[in-house]
Amino acid sequence: MVDMDRLDPGSMARVFREALRRGMDVEPAALFHDLGRMRSRIARVRAAFPPGALHTVAIKANPLVEVLRAAVDCGAGLEAASLEEVKLALAAGCPPDHIVYDSPAKTRAEIAEALRLGVRLNADNLDELGRIDELVRPGAAAGRVGLRINPQVGAAGIAITSVADRRSKFGVPLEQEGAVRAAFARYPWLAGLHVHVGSQGCGLALLVEGIRRVEALRQEIRRALGQGAAGTLDIGGGLPVAYRSTDRPPLLEDYAAALRREVPTLFEEGTTLVTELGRWVQAGCGFAVSRVEYVKEDSAGRTAILHLGADFLLRRAYHPEDWHHDFAALDPDAAPKEGPLSPCTLAGPLCFGGDVLARDLPLPELSPGDLVLIRDTGAYTLSMWSRHCSRGIPAVLGVDAGELRVLRERERPEDVVAFWSRGRGQP
Ligand SMILES: Cc1ncc(COP(=O)(O)O)c(C=O)c1O
Repeated sequence: MVDMDRLDPGSMARVFREALRRGMDVEPAALFHDLGRMRSRIARVRAAFPPGALHTVAIKANPLVEVLRAAVDCGAGLEAASLEEVKLALAAGCPPDHIVYDSPAKTRAEIAEALRLGVRLNADNLDELGRIDELVRPGAAAGRVGLRINPQVGAAGIAITSVADRRSKFGVPLEQEGAVRAAFARYPWLAGLHVHVGSQGCGLALLVEGIRRVEALRQEIRRALGQGAAGTLDIGGGLPVAYRSTDRPPLLEDYAAALRREVPTLFEEGTTLVTELGRWVQAGCGFAVSRVEYVKEDSAGRTAILHLGADFLLRRAYHPEDWHHDFAALDPDAAPKEGPLSPCTLAGPLCFGGDVLARDLPLPELSPGDLVLIRDTGAYTLSMWSRHCSRGIPAVLGVDAGELRVLRERERPEDVVAFWSRGRGQP
């Protein structure tokens, strides 16, 4: 079966109308995150795997502390890709042993801080294990340090988010498994393995094969060193979602069933299974709405200028062939716009020619003051906000049990001046 569970444009438009009615800060653009939907996605992950598993949500998909707090409140841990993200996780109230710290560039100071805080960490390479060994106090890191393996299953459909090809910068290549076995024999504090195959673009078979290979290595280590060794397997994230009505991503439940079938030891007692899904949890929870500021027409066609562009949809602007979003036209009161369709280019507000979200999209005729709704913006959009042209981030509103609340206030020009200033409040 395929996962076509998406918010429908009608309900998104209703939420925007309600925000307008309440006089919330939605001009000239606003971002929304449906926390109820996020909770139900997390509940599905928890239901699909054994009760002892630790399910972390990848902060890099959406780092808003209010979003992270809601995830933690319903039992999720958090996956951090930097020490700053570790601090975001703590700010969201995540218990340290539910935080997984992954980064290929951890400094000695960052490793020391992570060990002091008691978070879980996955070393990216064998040299990092050496650094950890210098810093670890005997017994202190028990059960919390893993080692990332590149399963070398090859690139997936999207090159820039594939990380399991031979040239990947991540993890110890599986072909060096002898060195991995030796590391487990040498470092008694090393507790498990970590694998992440890629993000979006990965089919079920590729994800499962990557995990199967690393789990086979973990079983060899356990056979050699005893069943107490390498007790954790962190299977990363990467489960894709639908951005188009024609996309056919797998169901999360089918992913779990395939793992149970192909990698049964992962589900055995004595194994701590960790997941790090980001996009699958967050992408479909988000949507964005922008006013149309101007509409230009010339012999080449019609272009609507919006208040969200490459600053918000960075990947879409630079790699439109890989990163799709659906757009819908609304009238000034956020009712669906009717009328014959004609090609319209949707351009952002930034000062470069590539700041285009869609070219010649068939849309009802847009006028200044109309609105454009952008679907599936909950992951890898705001978290990749670009400061080019220094536009402030719009308000982010949370949709929660029929209520609306501010998750992050709109950045004012003064906030942007502070961002670019010397620091700590000094201009
Ligand atoms: C190590 C690691 N874990 C988890 C994720 C989350 O991936 P996704 O959002 O595709 O689930 C990523 C994303 O790049 C990652 O690098």
